Amino acid sequence: MTRGKPKNGILVFTGNSNPDLAKAICAYLKLAVGSADVGRFSEGEIRLKVNDDVRGQDVFVIQSTSPPANDNLMELLIFLDALRRSSASRITAVMPYYGYARQDRKDQPRVPITAKLVANLLVGAGAQRVLSMDMHAGQIQGFFDIPVDHLYAAPVFINYFKRPQFKNLVVVSPDVGGIKMARAFAKRLHAELAIVDKRRVSDEEAEVMNLLGEVRGRTAVIVDDIVATGGSLCEAAHALKKHGAQDIYAAVTHPVLSGPAMERIAKAPLQQLVVTDTIPLGPGRRHRKIKVLSVAPLLGEAIRRIHLEESVSSLFV
Ligand code: R5P
Repeated sequence: MTRGKPKNGILVFTGNSNPDLAKAICAYLKLAVGSADVGRFSEGEIRLKVNDDVRGQDVFVIQSTSPPANDNLMELLIFLDALRRSSASRITAVMPYYGYARQDRKDQPRVPITAKLVANLLVGAGAQRVLSMDMHAGQIQGFFDIPVDHLYAAPVFINYFKRPQFKNLVVVSPDVGGIKMARAFAKRLHAELAIVDKRRVSDEEAEVMNLLGEVRGRTAVIVDDIVATGGSLCEAAHALKKHGAQDIYAAVTHPVLSGPAMERIAKAPLQQLVVTDTIPLGPGRRHRKIKVLSVAPLLGEAIRRIHLEESVSSLFV
């Protein structure tokens, strides 16, 4: 028997959630996007076929579980199943945005822990590693018993706000839960820190109770992981304006932008909302105030390092 060519190559596939990001990641890696058909049967069920031979390969599937979250999650699960059954040697679910992260603990009676359920589903379907970015809660990493590489978009935002036109900065956390993220930004931008004491009135409404820290006359940068309905962000922007902030910017990793978000952003005293491309801005979710920075090089570099068994954490030192 002649020995075949050894296989330990890398293949990167994408579902339908964010093909542009997948293309940009593959461009960074100097690879073509793997060939797969991810379509629908006539009644709407997902039909998938991987066209490339993946046997023995190190395979990455890029899919944010952004809206429509159920469709995108199901596509990812089916993709993982197809790859596992096709004898890929290692399968990494690359989830730039990990949706279903907000129910991450039993904080009321009779509620699910959906973030854990999703973790179980991913592993059950065939994921052997997960690569994600700015998860809503860091502890979601512990919901997996497989390796999770957790990236931060912070270096991309910090490069942007380090430019000389941004002076006299104060970094603002829009709620108590975001203090750690805001403090890390403030340290790297040599800026002061302010904190908004927010009360959530409902899923769509947030109310500012207090503002801690000095913002008068400063350029405020609100940092957060998600902008969904825009309630937290826009209430914080209004409070900053009321307390005398001169210019107000925001740096938010995942632009979910659901429900009344676009209207709120248009009306809020925000100079600019800077987001990343973990979630694409489809039609109706673009606005002159919204600027998109790409995290494709960061994700591409992390994929390269995972493939070559190099340190990923050293990307952030
Ligand atoms: C809250 O803990 C998160 O960090 C975000 O502030 C929140 O999910 C944003 O949601 P919304 O835009 O609907 O206020």
